[in-house]
Amino acid sequence: MGATLAKGHLEARVLSLVRKPSSLEPRVRDALILGAYEIGYLSTPIGVAVSQWVDAVGSTSPRAIGLANAVLRKLSPLRSEVLGARSRVVQGTLSVDDLELCSGLPEWLCARFLDERGSEASATIALGLAEAAPAWLVGVISDARMGVLEDAGLEPKAEALPGIWRLGNPARLESSHVLERGFCPEDLSAFEIALASVPKPGGSRLEVGVGRGTKALVAATLSSERGALGRFVCVDASAERVLEARDRFARAGLPATLVHGEGRDLEAHLGDERFSMVFVDAPCSGTGTMRRHPEIAWNLDPSSVEAPGHAPLPQLQLELLEEASRHVEEDGYLLYATCSALREENGQVVEAFLSGEAGSRFERAGLDELPVFAQLGKDAQDRLKADGFFGSEFSTKPVPEGPDLHYLAALRRVHA
Ligand SMILES: C[S@@+](CC[C@H](N)C(=O)[O-])C[C@H]1O[C@@H](n2cnc3c(N)ncnc32)[C@H](O)[C@@H]1O
Repeated sequence: MGATLAKGHLEARVLSLVRKPSSLEPRVRDALILGAYEIGYLSTPIGVAVSQWVDAVGSTSPRAIGLANAVLRKLSPLRSEVLGARSRVVQGTLSVDDLELCSGLPEWLCARFLDERGSEASATIALGLAEAAPAWLVGVISDARMGVLEDAGLEPKAEALPGIWRLGNPARLESSHVLERGFCPEDLSAFEIALASVPKPGGSRLEVGVGRGTKALVAATLSSERGALGRFVCVDASAERVLEARDRFARAGLPATLVHGEGRDLEAHLGDERFSMVFVDAPCSGTGTMRRHPEIAWNLDPSSVEAPGHAPLPQLQLELLEEASRHVEEDGYLLYATCSALREENGQVVEAFLSGEAGSRFERAGLDELPVFAQLGKDAQDRLKADGFFGSEFSTKPVPEGPDLHYLAALRRVHA
């Protein structure tokens, strides 16, 4: 995971030490990149790391042993460079270069983090990327009890929210078979956003971008457990995901209409039907989830995440939001969420929507006024507020060992 996250830098460094980079065999290049990671970022004694990776190269390409030895030895200063950058990041006296070296992320992403979030939050993000993401499970069936997770040795710790447990021992997850018993992995911030999307008791709910249905299931379970499950309609452009979501709803015994369709043409499936809660869980860069998906960092083209109107992804997000807004009933809510850490996909999309024709019928709504608050106990309400569910926008605050970076904005329809 670490080598994938820092792949671009490691590759450039390795290739700068090779006379004819184009003649490097792919398997040798990969072994050298992995070796560069171990030398630069892990605590293995450098001599041991060099000899292990020379052996690895030798086992695939004996001719390249001499080259590997020379390149890996020349990489040894990387360790002190990374340690130096890490200590400046910890002390808060960081530059974009330090952030790049410490996190492994491309320069443009580090520059955007620094610009948008400042040095303290950027430092937390950079240092957090080197750690494994925490694991939570949500119980999508009503008899899901903490005892099941305890018996499985997962060391669950209840959060002050209904139906989510943090796992002290996630390594047991695979062998525990709890995923076949109605539990499902979910990030804490994503779960909180799912809670925010619960409609008023008996109210109808539309989700655009339902994916495999994880958030929709959380919302439906909570509504159903309170005896107030209204009409749930979910749309996604991926046929495969819709099938999986259908299957999961059926197994949970929860009724919902799951539609395979284009979110920018909802009329084709919904006519002029309106809902009390419309939730756009938008396709996005996923830059808030790079601890779990390190390949995002170097696969993402910065030009795809410029402001709406200038880049494909924010433009798609804006169009999905505009189309979904046509299906919100008066006084109903329109929620917009991403797992992006970039304002171009978050606040800027909401601002572009509000300044357009469709957005003129909406105003910002308080997150702590959403219908779910009246359906939760005081501890859960306080927990949501403490985590940032107040005002009209939520953006996960980066904290050590905290959840992924998610974003949510709440709007209310004020004109028909
Ligand atoms: C963030 S994911 C959804 C996660 C999901 N809501 C959950 O809780 O697991 C975004 C989803 O948007 C879907 N999507 C992408 N483009 C779309 C479009 N034009 N119309 C409808 N859905 C789209 C993707 O297939 C993907 O499942």
